Amino acid sequence: MSSLRLAPAAAGARLLGLGSVQPDTVVTNDDLARRIDTNDQWIRDRVGIRSRRIADEKTLLVDMAADAGALAVEDAGLTPADIDTVIVATCTMPNPIPNAAAQMADRIGVNGIGAMDLNAACAGFCYGTGVAADMIRSGTARHVLVVGSEKLSDWLDMDDRSVCIIFADGAGAAVLGPAETPEDVGVGPVAWGAAGDLVSTIGIDEKNYLRQEGQAVFRWATTKIAPIAMEALDKAGLTPADVDVLVPHQANLRIVEAIAKKLRSQGARDDLVVADDIVHSGNTSSASIPMAIDHMRGAGRVRSGDVALIVGFGAGLSYGGQVVVLP
Ligand code: UT7
Repeated sequence: MSSLRLAPAAAGARLLGLGSVQPDTVVTNDDLARRIDTNDQWIRDRVGIRSRRIADEKTLLVDMAADAGALAVEDAGLTPADIDTVIVATCTMPNPIPNAAAQMADRIGVNGIGAMDLNAACAGFCYGTGVAADMIRSGTARHVLVVGSEKLSDWLDMDDRSVCIIFADGAGAAVLGPAETPEDVGVGPVAWGAAGDLVSTIGIDEKNYLRQEGQAVFRWATTKIAPIAMEALDKAGLTPADVDVLVPHQANLRIVEAIAKKLRSQGARDDLVVADDIVHSGNTSSASIPMAIDHMRGAGRVRSGDVALIVGFGAGLSYGGQVVVLP
């Protein structure tokens, strides 16, 4: 039997464009304190959030995914017709079928392309980026749109103060394309995994409300995620001193700072930029990393060509990260 023909491979993948959207409605800590027993000081001190964006009833997760995706395609200098695969990382679709990806692909004007949802909860964007980069490197795809989109407000018990103050809505997206030469490669190998033995610490209960054992997840995140970030760096052949921007999933500012502290103790530079998007965006799960990068870019805190270390973690408990060069 003759050997099967394979698609021509690329040297690797790189990020070509970014986009993000948030609902218009800003909910401050004081707004929440008028409804439940909490206060601005507690939320700032324990989580770092000052305000978050919450979608209205009519705005769907797919709407936000399509809007962020369209912005990323435009930012990449492409048209929707150039996209051949869509991956929507999400854990908050109202129903398991139909998936978000096929709907959002249609919404941005492309049909007949690969379209799948990927659920690795708050690690979803890093998982999606890892899958997309390998698809491009193997020649399966050329331009992949990876979107993290979440409407967490659909799953919140607004009487549960340990959860409802944290989570929020929004979408962030990136377009990945091929690197023509090894020097152009802008997405490093993914370091990922899952701690299924801790699965009970975050989940949806019988009333369809999101619950988490905050302290257990906090302890896990502050001890286990920095080593994953270091592993991602090592896989890319880099050291902490090579990193310009650190973008951990925006779960809690104290967790972000713990990861940054570890990186600094291992030789990160004094001018390391650390994402703190949670302050005004809340925890948007799979959307938080691309949204944070897009906001930092808009604020002039990061530049094209910066080396970013991204790392996501959440329900599962799933985790994953890699090095990306910003578009
Ligand atoms: O994105 C997915 C991954 N998720 C995470 O990474 C979340 C990780 N966990 C966390 O970020 C933190 O554990 C939380 C933000 C969820 C909670 O912060 P904490 O510092 O661990 O608080 P705690 O649960 O230990 O509660 C401390 C106290 C308790 O009161 P007592 O028992 O000491 O009197 C809580 O009842 O704070 C109370 N509390 C609040 N007080 C005011 C809990 N929530 C609130 C609140 N406002 N919203």
